[in-house]
Amino acid sequence: MSRQTAIDLAYLFAAITFVLALKGLSSPKRARQGTIVGAVGMAVAVVATFFHQENGQGLRNLGLMVGAMVLGIVIAVPMSRFMKMTSMPQLIAIFNGVGGGAAALVSITEFLHQDVKTLPTYVVLEVVLGVLIGAMSFSGSAIAYAKLQELMTGRPITYPGQQIMNGIIFFGALGIVVALLIAPTNLLLWILLVVALIVGVSFVLPIGGADVPVLISLLNSFTGLAVAASGFTLDSNVLIVAGTLVGASGILLTKLMSQAMGRSLPNIMFSAFGSATPSAASGGADDRPVRSGTPEDIAVMLAYARKVIIVPGYGLAVAQAQHTVNELAELLQSKGIEVFYAIHPVAGRMPGHMNVLLAEANVPYSELKEMDEANPEMSTADVVLVVGANDTVNPAAKTSPGSPIYGMPIINADEARQIVFLKRSMRPGFAGIENELLYDPKTILLFGDAKDSLGKLVTAVKQS
Ligand code: TAP
Repeated sequence: MSRQTAIDLAYLFAAITFVLALKGLSSPKRARQGTIVGAVGMAVAVVATFFHQENGQGLRNLGLMVGAMVLGIVIAVPMSRFMKMTSMPQLIAIFNGVGGGAAALVSITEFLHQDVKTLPTYVVLEVVLGVLIGAMSFSGSAIAYAKLQELMTGRPITYPGQQIMNGIIFFGALGIVVALLIAPTNLLLWILLVVALIVGVSFVLPIGGADVPVLISLLNSFTGLAVAASGFTLDSNVLIVAGTLVGASGILLTKLMSQAMGRSLPNIMFSAFGSATPSAASGGADDRPVRSGTPEDIAVMLAYARKVIIVPGYGLAVAQAQHTVNELAELLQSKGIEVFYAIHPVAGRMPGHMNVLLAEANVPYSELKEMDEANPEMSTADVVLVVGANDTVNPAAKTSPGSPIYGMPIINADEARQIVFLKRSMRPGFAGIENELLYDPKTILLFGDAKDSLGKLVTAVKQS
């Protein structure tokens, strides 16, 4: 077998592992396995690349390549190990950004090494796409990181005429692309790089912090496309396959997230959702009475129930209450009570947020039910315990056509016999709107940090 055939076979193996990795990632049970399979495939592809030869010559600049890889490992391994689970979206943002930036740099390098006057148009197109999409993804991800890490405001940044300005920048970039295709020059490529970086920034600024995970998924798919474009430039099948897989899965995830939020992608990208400060955000827009209870009142309700459904939300992640909620669930189960978790697809702030948190606390997968599976059981629940969730159980999504969340599928907590909310105040959730369910006569509120409240409930249930 020739050296090149062996390398191609290694790339084919890697491509197959990438597909298997994606399959594994589609279920929480096999996600870990999927990640390992993908990482092994990637390692094989990287090692195989070192054996590459051109005109009988091996790779040059080996020292630089190994040095860059060591630097990457030294930065990325501790970062991934020590990053908190709640900071996962910004970790993905930064890794995604460097991927896009790398793809843009590869395309630029290839362009600068060639006689641009004789380059076929399709090669220029590959380079130009790699630079445009990669640089946009780099600068957009950097702003997304800054928003999520609270290095800048998480609120949408808007100014009068912003849409027009963004349109001008975007069409300006397209104009440079056309000019490059007609008469390519190095200078024009550098100008495209700068404009693409500006497009990335202006695209992300008007998007609110809580919508940023959807944006990251979209930017991720852009990075995939940039990598695929640089794969064409370098004649690398493995880059084309990997980039296309990332591009396609990123788009699908973005679509699924938008659907689960009941909002269109243009609404998420261009409506500056969350920029208005709702009056309720100051702590209760409404003077209507609500029923609040003590941990002991609620412990009695729980201890005498037959079926309890727990609905976790963003507040569970903020309070880091996953272990305490599991302790409560196990305690109730030891009393013969049926307990499971109803997981809304966009509960929290990133895809799979609740699954990851609860898995960290060793909650069995069989106790995590997706919204569609859990909803038919809501009316048979004696108690629904809503832990730090709000929008994802807000009935306005079903009943108020004017509401910003109208049409978003929700967990039908309102159908249960009794509803318990664990939250700190009457403040609304991410969408900034009132939740009628808090005023429902069937509802009882336990105010306080979710972890504290759950701890108190554990003690009270033990004593009841
Ligand atoms: P939210 O509607 O944001 O509600 C979270 C609730 O948690 C708030 O009402 C807050 O009330 C409470 N809370 C915060 N910290 C707490 C703590 N330490 N202890 C107890 N409670 C606490 O959350 P949700 O129901 O999970 O809905 C998710 C929202 O995010 C949806 O609007 C969704 O569209 C949006 N979103 C999700 C994603 C993904 S992919 N998950 C992506 C983008 C946007 P207090 O302040 O009164 O405590």
